Parts: sequence; structure tokens; C-alpha cells
Amino acid sequence: MADPAELSARLVAELTEAGDLVPQWRAAFQAVPRHRFVPDTVWVQDGDRRLVPVDRADDEARWLELCYANDFVVTQVDDGVPAEPGRVGRDISSSASRPDVVASMLAALEVEPGMNVLEIGTGTGWNAALLAERLGDDKVVSVEVDPAVADRARRVLWDAGYEIAVAATDGALGCPSFAPFDRVIATVAADQVPHAWAEQSRPGGRVLVPWTTDFHNGALVSFTVEPDRTMRGRIVGNVAFMRLRAQRGRHVSLARDVRHVEQARCSSTGLHPYDVLGEYDVSLAVGLKVPRCKLIVRHDDGGAYAVWLVDPWSGSWASLEHGPGAETFPVRQHGPRSLWHEVEAAYHWWEDLDRPTADRWGLTVTAEGQHVWLDDPGNLIGPSCPDQGGQ
Ligand SMILES: C[S@@+](CC[C@H](N)C(=O)[O-])C[C@H]1O[C@@H](n2cnc3c(N)ncnc32)[C@H](O)[C@@H]1O
Repeated sequence: MADPAELSARLVAELTEAGDLVPQWRAAFQAVPRHRFVPDTVWVQDGDRRLVPVDRADDEARWLELCYANDFVVTQVDDGVPAEPGRVGRDISSSASRPDVVASMLAALEVEPGMNVLEIGTGTGWNAALLAERLGDDKVVSVEVDPAVADRARRVLWDAGYEIAVAATDGALGCPSFAPFDRVIATVAADQVPHAWAEQSRPGGRVLVPWTTDFHNGALVSFTVEPDRTMRGRIVGNVAFMRLRAQRGRHVSLARDVRHVEQARCSSTGLHPYDVLGEYDVSLAVGLKVPRCKLIVRHDDGGAYAVWLVDPWSGSWASLEHGPGAETFPVRQHGPRSLWHEVEAAYHWWEDLDRPTADRWGLTVTAEGQHVWLDDPGNLIGPSCPDQGGQ
């Protein structure tokens, strides 16, 4: 079986070579053994993309490889609630984040010695330990909403020699008793960014947040906190995280939410689904313009795939079929919204804006709410109103 120290050295070398691990964080990555933070039972996808457990006691070599792969490790499903008999699908509810994402986010946090940091989403405690290794135990506070996950992280951190405060509470509220902070890092995604993180920051502080829409998960925003606690920031990276628990919204199930297929409105489109869904800059922009639209893609063995757009709140859905080599694609839509038409309109809106790249978008968050802007904080962009007409 491979030696954890060798696996760790291999991972550090890989991250360094890829440019994800900057010199300032290398010693911390070398000092904190990731496998000490990963629970004995983790979850992997089987051939049918179902999450199944891998136990250290059954296959320690595989478990160790998972701990030191440059990938996220699923450490809890379904909020830790055992599955009811017959339930097959499980949902990820806690994980150890991908090492390259952790390294890039820590670099983007731009910490200096002496700074106080608040982490939202303790999970395994690995990221908190990395922060403590660089800044000192008394400079790091971490908040985890799941009491069992928080308890475990506290114990593991303690056993590994890190006396870090871990609060079991809703991270959207921050951690006022330890404020003010110079840096806040969320390792969990928000679609509505909590203003408490700015209220508990020092002016000039930085707040780093994976920001998500229903359509597109994957925008890291680096905010600066202004003296009046307004926070403004731009998209600086592409990272996908699970959402804050209270912002998870509705779970979409095609079996439950796609109804009345025989009554669907049928049409076709010449817009290739890859041009909209496969391109990061486009899919990000579509997510800004088309709210409450969840995206599911289903591949079959022959290279064909179907794109499903579902708004479980209004009961609207759309599907688009893609066959290999096809140039037009059949579309079906049902419900008060015509979701594919909204997505197509958002694509043309993005084209008309001169195809902005992700780094041109920014976000302003105040106590009153949040606004998206393009290039300049004065150039606000609102989401479109869901189409109520139907077609
Ligand atoms: C991707 S994991 C965090 C990874 C972690 N930083 C690590 O090093 O392993 C996200 C964590 O955020 C937690 N979480 C979800 N909603 C939260 C909330 N409202 N407040 C605090 N933590 C939350 C989840 O329970 C989960 O453990």
C-alpha cells in the first residue's frame, strides 16, 4: 500500500506544477496530511452515477488514493440521514473540496500574517487546518451548519494539533462573537450572498464567495468591503460548490417534475445546445438572465444526449434532444414558462452585449440586497421576468 507521505508529496508536486499551489501556501500543504481529515467512509459514483460508500476498513489502499487524488471526496450524503428502504439516489451534503480549488482559493484570499479569517463550511476541517498552519490557530474561526460534521471536524482538528474555534451554526449569519475579520472565505456556494459577512469584516477586507445561479454553478467572486460595508467584487474564477443549506431550493427530479409530456408544445431550434451549455462564459450569462431554471443533461450510450430545463416552482419544463451530427434539435416545452425560448433569448442578449467573458461581471451586495453589473458597478443588469405567456 502506498505511503501517505509519498501520496501527499505527489499531490503537492502536481498542484505546484499546474500553478495552482503558490509558494506562500506550499509549506502548509506539505504540513497538513489530508487523509487525517477524511472520514473512514467516503462516497464514490458507480457506473450508473449512483453514490456508493467506500470504507477504509474494507479497502484502505483505495481510500488513501481517494484522499490524495486531485478531486473532491464526498464525505456525507443526504445530510447524514440514512436512506429509506428502496431509495437509490443520494445527494452530496458534505465533502473535502478539490485540492486545486482549495489551493487557488487560498491564493485568491491574499492573506498576510496577523490577519483574522472566518471560514464558512468547515466540512472535514482540512481547509481550516491549512489556514491555521499559515496564520496560527487563534486567527482562524470556522462555521459549519451540520452539528455532527462540526463535532467531527473539531475533534479531528484537535487530534491533529489545531486548536481552532469551530461553531456549529448557520454560516449565513457569520460568527459575530469573533468579528471583525480581515478575510472571509466561503467553501460553500451562495446565490444570495449574506451581507453579514461584510458587516463582520474590517473595511478594506476581502470576502471570497463561490456564487451560483440555478442554471450555472461556478463563479468565484472576490469582494472588497467598503467603509459603509457595501461589498463589491468581480468574478475571478470558475469553481462549483454545494449550496448553503438554506439556499438549496427545490430538488429537481425528472420523474416527478416533467409532467403532461403529451401536451408539450413542440418546435425545433438551430442553436446547438453545446454553444449555450458547454461554454462557460455563455452559461454563466444565461444563468444571470434566466432565474429559477435548473439544468439536467442525460447522455445515452450512443453519443446522443437530452437537455432538460426545469422550473419546479412554476411547473414548467423544456427538453432538447441532441443526436450525433444533427444540425437542428427538437424542442418540447410545457407549463407557463417557455424555458428553452428564455434560454435562447438570453444567449442572443449575451451576443448583443459583445459576448462578455466571466471576468467582466461583478456583484454588489448591501444590506438591502444584491445587484449584478457588467464592467462597471453602475451598469446594473437585472434578471428577466419569467415569461408568463406560454407558446
Ligand atoms: C464543500 S464542503 C466544505 C469543505 C471544507 N472546507 C473542507 O476543507 O473539507 C461544504 C460544507 O458547507 C457546509 N454548509 C452548508 N451550508 C452551510 C451553512 N449555511 N453554514 C455553514 N456551513 C454550511 C456543509 O455542511 C459542508 O460541510
